[in-house]
Amino acid sequence: MRIRLVVGALGLIAVMAVAGALFVTRHINATGAAGPFAMHVASASDEPWVTKTVTACDKKKTVIVEGYRQGTVLPPEKARQVAKLLMALMKYCDYRVLARLPQQETTVYLSIDGQPFVEMREVEQNLPLLLVHGGVLHTERELRVWAAEQKRVIEEGYNLFHSSSLGTNGISCDMCHPNASNTHPETYPKFQTQLKALALLRDMINWCIENPMEGKKLTGDDSKMKALEAYILSARAGKTLDPGKH
Ligand code: HEC
Repeated sequence: MRIRLVVGALGLIAVMAVAGALFVTRHINATGAAGPFAMHVASASDEPWVTKTVTACDKKKTVIVEGYRQGTVLPPEKARQVAKLLMALMKYCDYRVLARLPQQETTVYLSIDGQPFVEMREVEQNLPLLLVHGGVLHTERELRVWAAEQKRVIEEGYNLFHSSSLGTNGISCDMCHPNASNTHPETYPKFQTQLKALALLRDMINWCIENPMEGKKLTGDDSKMKALEAYILSARAGKTLDPGKH
């Protein structure tokens, strides 16, 4: 609350909105010796920092938590804080962001692409609002690339579904499942008596490859399996998910 008032008083939000950057943060010059980031380093004791580093799945967002060693588990409260922070960082940037969570304070220290600045908000209050993308989540180009890739894989699945290449007897999926009919992807996972187990869609795809088509089953990460699943799911788009339904 105190921090927001300070930011408001500085009129930073208005300035930044005009600039299109939308930063609600107080930047600290990388070379500014008086900044909290620099002060922190300067005040470090003789002991080396004991920290724990958590990296998000894009390998670009890193959170360093002071006071916990590598290889030790964070207490639940701290772990939740780190997860929250990583999610917030993931949402907004393509940049390499390093966040440092001090053990005591509620301030988060950040650097983006090596440029240090500090996020002044308190950790527990809707934190952190890091609009380093200027609020644009995905670019037009990204959306086009993703759509093209989706189309390509679905088409690959369509072709496999309509060819006998997955089997050895000339039979193809579409001969029994025209337009992916009766594949019921929305009902998975469900118990399948043939397999005597809870099955995923891919387990039944393999069952059909091995049995009517006398082919060799695919591994779960085979690109052909991915393509078949992509085609079947897209052909049945709009169905309500109903796992377990028979
Ligand atoms: C000879 C006909 C035939 C062929 C060829 C065939 N299937 Fe099937 N498929 C069936 C039958 C019959 C079932 C129903 C099995 C059951 O649920 O007891 C089935 C079930 C399935 C299911 C589960 C459906 C559900 O209701 O849960 C999927 C998914 C599936 N097949 C995909 C494929 C794919 C992919 C191919 C090609 C690789 C293929 N099938 C080839 C006959 C065939």
